Amino acid sequence: KRLTSIPAFRAERPKMGHLGFVPTMGNLHAGHVSLVERAKRECETVAASIFINPAQFARGEDLDKYPRTVEEDIEKLKRAGCDYVFMPSVAEMYPSGITLDIPDQQGTFIEVRGKSHQMEGIIRPHFFRGVATIVAKLFNVTTPNVAYFGQKDAQQCVVVRNLVHDLLYDIKIVVGETVREPDGLAMSSRNGYLSPSDREAGLCLYRGLSAAQRLFAQGVRDRARLHAAATDAINAEPRVKLQYVSLAHPRTLEELDTVGPDGAILAGAIQTSSTRLIDNVLLGVPDGL
Ligand code: PAF
Repeated sequence: KRLTSIPAFRAERPKMGHLGFVPTMGNLHAGHVSLVERAKRECETVAASIFINPAQFARGEDLDKYPRTVEEDIEKLKRAGCDYVFMPSVAEMYPSGITLDIPDQQGTFIEVRGKSHQMEGIIRPHFFRGVATIVAKLFNVTTPNVAYFGQKDAQQCVVVRNLVHDLLYDIKIVVGETVREPDGLAMSSRNGYLSPSDREAGLCLYRGLSAAQRLFAQGVRDRARLHAAATDAINAEPRVKLQYVSLAHPRTLEELDTVGPDGAILAGAIQTSSTRLIDNVLLGVPDGL
């Protein structure tokens, strides 16, 4: 069932019982579908949202061209067992308005300080403020019992866990494994931007992360060797530019010299000629993200 306004969602919420919630920006792929299917197994009712959140885009990023495929998305959600899809308007979600010019933004925003400035936050300083703000708003409207996020956006998972902890939301966060194409490319709504050549070149990111993962499995814990395994594979591909490789603690996001008993997130970002790609693997994180 489609719910296109906040009052419409709130009117239905009492009927939903124990609710699993999957927030998305649409253009759904197998990664989203796997989260919905898992929510369906674990919860009485499943709701997904489709909302392209302006606050997590900067001027010059791809807000205008971000793929909008609502009818196909709803079909996929239905097949995966989703009961409700929430599709609010921008005006409703940002009652004080929203401009992409951050200094001019008015109203209330949420910042998860300490977890938003490194890794993705270096290149996209506005990004996690936008994510934390919209996730909090979506939680306030949908009041889920459980919310599902994909591991591919590892730092987003950490930001959301901190948001829930600090703002005292009574919501369980579940992180679903990254779903990959047969050749290893992590599913992403932005993969559609890739030309065939960029698509092939982009595989170097996962190749590098996997090389480091193999070293880790052989007992290597030292930053220099793990980091070099990832960056060497990326630097060997002339069609992409390495943005960063981070070997970070899975909760604090502090860069590590050595991987300890808590394990590490090994994450990277590259720029191809058509889009930037991110990916990560977990190295020995006992309970996942
Ligand atoms: O991961 C996403 O698609 C978005 O960042 C989210 C969580 C839906 C917030 O807009």
